[in-house]
This record gives sequence, structure tokens and C-alpha cells, in this order.
Amino acid sequence: MTPLMSIVSLVYLVSAACYVVGLHMMRTPKTARNGNRLSAVGMVLAVIMTFLVAINKNSATLTGWLLMLVGVVLGVGYGVIKARTVKMTDMPQLVSLFNAVGGGAAAAIGMFDYLSATNGSYLQYSFSIPVVLDLIIGAVTFSGSLIATGKLAGKISGKPISFPGAKLLNAIIVLVMVAAVVLMIGFRTNSWSLVLALVASLVFGILMTIPIGGADMPVVVSLLNAFTGLAVAMAGFVIDNQVLIIAGALVGAAGTILTLQMAAAMNRSVANIIAGGFGTGDSGDSSVADDVPVNVKETSADDIGVQLAYANNVMIVPGYGLAAAQAQHEVAELATLLIEHGINVNYAIHPVAGRMPGHMNVLLAEVNVPYDEMKQLEEANSMFENTDVSLVIGANDVTNPAARKKGTAITGMPILDVDKSKSIVVIKRSMSTGYAGIQNELFSDDKASMFFADAKKGLQEIIASSKEYLDQ
Ligand code: TAP
Repeated sequence: MTPLMSIVSLVYLVSAACYVVGLHMMRTPKTARNGNRLSAVGMVLAVIMTFLVAINKNSATLTGWLLMLVGVVLGVGYGVIKARTVKMTDMPQLVSLFNAVGGGAAAAIGMFDYLSATNGSYLQYSFSIPVVLDLIIGAVTFSGSLIATGKLAGKISGKPISFPGAKLLNAIIVLVMVAAVVLMIGFRTNSWSLVLALVASLVFGILMTIPIGGADMPVVVSLLNAFTGLAVAMAGFVIDNQVLIIAGALVGAAGTILTLQMAAAMNRSVANIIAGGFGTGDSGDSSVADDVPVNVKETSADDIGVQLAYANNVMIVPGYGLAAAQAQHEVAELATLLIEHGINVNYAIHPVAGRMPGHMNVLLAEVNVPYDEMKQLEEANSMFENTDVSLVIGANDVTNPAARKKGTAITGMPILDVDKSKSIVVIKRSMSTGYAGIQNELFSDDKASMFFADAKKGLQEIIASSKEYLDQ
């Protein structure tokens, strides 16, 4: 090994350590920002080393260098602008788009390496297997993630899309993929096998994602994220780059753990997810929960102020609407006001509340809500019986008792047992449904009353009226 390659290997090791430690630091909101920074430092080091190796090997032409430069400038520019301007509620589609980019890049590496081998030659298994896996996983991730991005961004219908004969078509595509894999691994290189594998994988990615809809989307995005990691790790084997293997393996592992956790939080089995069965049967019949009575009681900021002023224990239940209204400052202000007057205030956090994992934690951490006031699902559920007022702010599906019934779009999903509290106040703008598209019978519960308002404006009015009654 040349001295330069020894240094490069050493720096790759440092990069890998940065990712591992950085990922570990992302486990809690307190250290997450620094974890992100540390991982970014690792990534920059790895990119610099990769360029050094390319310069040393003189492996690129002038056009190649120009293309790389343009790629880096465009990639960095887009990444920086997007990261700075993306709305928190648009994060899932951005993550999904990044998954597509990662998968596409990995597939491109696989394609390039397969085509670089002499046409008509036999490939060694140690080369052909990672190349084929890289190509297939990368292409499935690319097309699947683009469809997921479109669905999450509302450019494609978010509802499950199915058509007659979809299962048969899926089976045929899988057979074509298997045939293409056998041709690429077991026979002489042939660009037609590559085209077959590529097209079948792209079609499979689309067919795998279109039947998924509603509340199952975050699970599929996380699964595609794990696929991206796997594809990138395979690309690392193909081009013999250790840091790519480690980074890909970490993304693959983290994505798999997140998929498992989200599947558990939404009561979907991972086997079902991999088989692509959800979003079809399990998404259920929304009409079952559409039957719920919608005769609800309306309330006012004034009445809520009275209720809060006389409460001992208040539970705030935040959901997507809180994030959409950017009402986190108001919610923290109200909580501080109540706490100053001796009222216990906690937050009930559902793992899939909002539109991305940890969405509510991030939102509340932004306004310095203490972590010990954020109660996760199980703990929160043990507290509702002693809660005088549950203030549901822009949350819907995560509180919907339809999850306890059979045959609804959210059947089996663990929910926040808000209906067990002594009084329930719901702040939302209308009787519109949440992400899963079904009505919520919590809203017509005898103990519940609705305050129809934008979360931000509504909370401002509640703060004003609470001040009046608390100061009396
Ligand atoms: P949702 O069920 O989506 O309900 C949000 C509610 O917020 C809506 O009913 C809406 O009613 C209300 N709202 C919207 N804008 C508002 C505003 N400005 N002020 C006040 N209310 C507003 O939210 P949730 O309970 O948080 O559940 C999350 C859902 O998203 C779950 O089904 C989950 O599976 C899914 N999902 C989650 C993720 C992750 S990983 N967290 C990712 C994608 C999807 P109005 O229009 O009447 O105001």
C-alpha cells in the first residue's frame, strides 16, 4: 500500500467513526444537532479523500473532472438551499427525494461497472453479485422513492392506487428480475441483460409504491431509506470503497430499525410490508369509520380558559395541525402560563404524530419544552385517567378510537387514549379528516368539545382568556 493510500484508509476510518458517533448522538434531541455536524464532517473528509485518490490515480479525463465539479456544485447548492428553506412539514418528501438520489447513484455505479467489463466475458461472482444487487436495489429505490415523493408532495394521489391484474403483473415483473439476475451472474456479460434488469427493477419500484397510501406512507419511505443504504453499501463493494460500505451499512441498519419501530407503532407487520401487501387490504374500508356521528359540541376560547384555570392536570396532545400552523411558540407560552399557576402540564407524543418520525419532539424542542414533559405513548396513556383537560391541538388520527375497531384504515394502530380523560378540547379548523381520511368519533364524545380555529390563532385567544381567569 502506498503512503497516500495508507493515509486515505486512516481518514476513511476516522470518517466511519464520525458517522457511528454522530448517529449515536442523534438518539436524543439534546445532542442531535452536533451528531449531524459530526457526521457531515465525516462525509466531507470522505469526499476529499475520494478526490485525492482520483487525482493520484489520474483516473479522470478533463471532461470527467468538469462533470464532477458541476455535479458537486449543483448537489451542494441544491442541498444547502433545500436544507435551509424546507418546511418541517415537507421533510418526508425531501427525505424521499434524497433516497431516490442515493438509489439512482448506486444503480448508476452498478451499470457503469457492469458495462466496463469486457463484453462477452464471464464475471467473477465476487464482482457480479454486488454489481447486480447494487443495480437492482438502487433502481427499485430510485423509482419507488420518486413515486413516494410525488405522493407525499400531493403531486400523485396519496390514496392507494390499484388496478385489475396488479398482483399478476407484480409476479411477472419479479420473474423477469430473477431471470435478468441469473443472466447477469451466471452467463457472459451482455448489455441486454442489464437493460432487462434495470427496466424490471424500475417498474417493480413503481408497482411496489403505488398501492401504498394513507397512514402507511412513512413506513414505506423508511423502508426505501434502508434500501438506499443497502444499495450504497453494495456500490462500496463494487468500487472497493470501505467508507461507502460502512456508511451504506449504517443507513441500511438505521433505516431497518426505524421501519421496524414505525411498523410497530402503526401495528403493521414488516413481513406484510415487504410483501407489498399493505395499503391494499390493511388500509381498510374508510366508510366504516365514516359512519361515526358528527354531532359535536362547539366551545369558545373563553370556556376553555375557565376549564384550564380550574384544572390540576392538563395534557397537551399535539398533531400535524400544530406543525402546519407553526403554533409551537403559542403552545409553549400557554404551558408556561399554566405551570406558573401551579397546574401540571405534560405533552402526549404519538410516534407517528405529524408527518415525520420525531416531528412533535423536534417541534417542541425548538421552543425549549423540557424533555421530561414530553410523554411517549405508553406513559401518556397511563396518565389520561388523571387528566382534567386534554387539549388536542391539530391532532386527529393519532387519537381516533376507530383504531380499536375492525376494518378501518387505522385498525390496530396504537392510539393516544385521549377519550379516557375527564374533559377533551379539540382545536382544529373544521370537521375535515386527518391523513388517514376517516372521521374521528372522539370529536362527538360526550366529554369532548370542538374549538374551530387555526391552532396559532386559537391558542392566542386561549392564552388571553386563561390569563383572565388564572389572575382572578
Ligand atoms: P392528522 O391525522 O393528519 O390530522 C391533522 C389535523 O390537523 C387535521 O384533521 C386538520 O383538520 C388539522 N389541521 C391542519 N392544519 C391546521 C391548522 N392550521 N390549525 C389547526 N388544525 C389544523 O394528524 P396526526 O393526528 O398528527 O396524525 C398523523 C397522521 O399522519 C397519521 O395518520 C400518520 O400515520 C400519518 N403520517 C405520519 C408520518 C410520521 S412518520 N409522523 C408521516 C406521514 C404520515 P382541519 O383541516 O379541520 O384543521
